[in-house]
Amino acid sequence: MSIHISARPGEIEKIVLLAGDPLRAKYIADNYLQNVTLVSSTRNIYFFTGTYKDKPLTIGASGMGCPSIGIYSFELFTEYDADCIIRIGTCGAYTKKLKLFELINAETACSESTYAACAYGYKKDSFKHQGDAFDVINDTAVDLNLELKNGTIHSGDVFYRAEKDKPAIVKKYKCLAAEMEAFALFANARYLKKSAATLLTVSDIIPTHEKISADEREKALLPMMKLALEAVLKL
Ligand code: HPA
Repeated sequence: MSIHISARPGEIEKIVLLAGDPLRAKYIADNYLQNVTLVSSTRNIYFFTGTYKDKPLTIGASGMGCPSIGIYSFELFTEYDADCIIRIGTCGAYTKKLKLFELINAETACSESTYAACAYGYKKDSFKHQGDAFDVINDTAVDLNLELKNGTIHSGDVFYRAEKDKPAIVKKYKCLAAEMEAFALFANARYLKKSAATLLTVSDIIPTHEKISADEREKALLPMMKLALEAVLKL
C-alpha cells in the first residue's frame, strides 16, 4: 500500500495506463480486459489489474492536473515499481488545423507549472516523453492504420482563465493542444528513469468552441483506447 493507492505489493503490473477519469478506467477494464481485479479504490480513484490478449497490465486514473498525476505516477513508479505509464486523455486543440477526434502522441509537454522545480529543482519548462513508449505508440498507429500526430502540448495549471489570448508558453513552443497532466508525468519519469508517454484525443477546439458531445464521448475515445492497448502488447 502507498499513501494514495491501496493495492497490495505485486497487484500493480509493470505497464500502467492512466486515464484522467476513474470511470473511464473502469470502462476500459470492463470492456477490454480479462481476469480483472479491482486492486485499489482509495478516493474512488480506481486501479484495475488484468490482461489484454494475455498481456498483464494495470489501468487506473490520475485525476486532473499536475499535482494529482504527480502523486499517482510517483507512487506507481516508486512503491509499485511500474516501468512504464501511458496517460490516455483528452485535450483542447489550440489550432483549427486539428479536428475533433484526432489523436496526438505528445513528443514534449511544456508548462508554467512549478511542479518539476518544486519536486526536483528542475529549471526547465518543458520535458520530452521518456523511454520507448512514444515510439512504440507511433509504430502501433501505423500498424493499425490510425492517423496520429506528434508535437508539443501545453500542460496548463488552469482550465478557466481571464485572458482570451493564448498563454505565452503556448506561443513559445507552438503547442498543438492543451491538457493538464503530461508535464508532471514526464518530469517524474525523467527523474526516476522510467518510461512515460501521453496519448490524447482532441475533445474540443479552443478557437471555435467546438466540442465532442457527451453522447459522442464514449465512442470517440475508442480508437485511442485500442491504440494504447495494442501498443502495450509491444512493450
Ligand atoms: N484545456 C485543458 N485541458 C483540456 C482541455 C482544454 O481545453 N480539453 C480537454 N482537456
